[in-house]
Amino acid sequence: MDATFRGGQPLSGKIGVPSDKSISHRAAILGALADGISTVGNYSPAADCASTLACLKALGVGTELDGAVLRVRGEGAGGLWRPDGPLDAGNSGTTMRLLSGVVASRQISATITGDDSLRSRPMGRIMEPLSAMGARIEADDEAGHPPLRITGGDLVGIDYEPSIASAQVKSCVLLAGLGAEGRTTVREKVLTRDHTERLLRGTGIEVSRRGLAVSVLPGTPRAFQMEVPGDFSSAAFLMAAAFLVPGSRITLNGVGLNPTRTGFLDVIRAMGAEVEVDCEAGPALEEEHVPSCEPAGVIRAGYSGLAGIEIGGEEVARAIDEITLVALLATQAEGRTVIRGARELRFKESDRIRSTVAGLRALGAVIEEEPDGMVVEGPCGLRGAAVSAAGDHRIAMMLAVAGLAAAGETVVSGWESTAVSYPGFLETVRLLGGDAS
Ligand code: S3P
Repeated sequence: MDATFRGGQPLSGKIGVPSDKSISHRAAILGALADGISTVGNYSPAADCASTLACLKALGVGTELDGAVLRVRGEGAGGLWRPDGPLDAGNSGTTMRLLSGVVASRQISATITGDDSLRSRPMGRIMEPLSAMGARIEADDEAGHPPLRITGGDLVGIDYEPSIASAQVKSCVLLAGLGAEGRTTVREKVLTRDHTERLLRGTGIEVSRRGLAVSVLPGTPRAFQMEVPGDFSSAAFLMAAAFLVPGSRITLNGVGLNPTRTGFLDVIRAMGAEVEVDCEAGPALEEEHVPSCEPAGVIRAGYSGLAGIEIGGEEVARAIDEITLVALLATQAEGRTVIRGARELRFKESDRIRSTVAGLRALGAVIEEEPDGMVVEGPCGLRGAAVSAAGDHRIAMMLAVAGLAAAGETVVSGWESTAVSYPGFLETVRLLGGDAS
């Protein structure tokens, strides 16, 4: 399926963004492990989060989605069954990696697979710690590609230092730790998104943090009620469109502002972007019915003159899903932008360094691929062209935003990939005044 964008129409108006995908996955999974019925308001409409629900159902968990309200019937430690067939995580790395930790820590066995993109992504990063905890876990090949065959149970806690910055790896190990004997610790090199820790703590699990080390003790989460905030990563596409199209001014309501997710704000401010953020503090920890303690608020963004920037390290981890947008913004910024320390982008739904460079070059950008990043010379005039989503939702939407800023018409093929995170993106762009069909 193609989507077509014509450049130059300013975006304006107030709008909400879809609910946070990362938090929705975690809320469904913790609800499944809890003892009792949990209610999750504003559950994400993303296909990835539907994959998590389908897998939980196959594991015997009662789930009911009524509009955007999810009810999960958790039956505590012994509540998961051996599924009849393979669990299908679809396109979702978070589903596969987090559920691997859950299955590994229970007395069940399961095979977890996914679509072509997911089956080409590396799982050695979770196989190593889960095996060290005592799980039997086999991949399809030596390189650690799915399907994964997992036989769980009788795990012991470990003290683990992942070699890469990954919230999915951290969360997999912490979730496995809930069913392991003793303490489980993950020592990160840079802090990645901490939604899992927040939810675990909010549901009564003993979680402690010392610097970049986070530990859990085994336990059963208590059932909870919560509301998921809007997805910062989805909001970032709309912000980027507002920065790039002259005359734009938009307001985004109810956006999640967890500081481990908002590195993009720091990067774009350093580039000179016009952005205001009003953050309402997250609910207090003691408010038992709202366990996630995730701050949210309003973001206002408008057309901005931008300057090139150099980024790497911790900034990249806090903006990992927005780096392709930084590359796009850099094409319109004065001077050179250098992005380093972003090799992880090669292991996302596509090789995002390669697909960003290919897509932006087709639109006229001056951009070079580096082993761990990109170098962009700006500013340059973008011209509409036919480009490919490369099977990757974030590449599809980044190129759509480029099309809103480019002269003429941009056709993005493979638009259906956007369903995995932002099914209503096209309608939202139109509501804000963009030319999209
Ligand atoms: C996610 C973590 C990130 C991110 C992904 C969602 C999560 O992946 O890119 O979109 O929900 O934990 P990594 O942790 O593998 O970097």
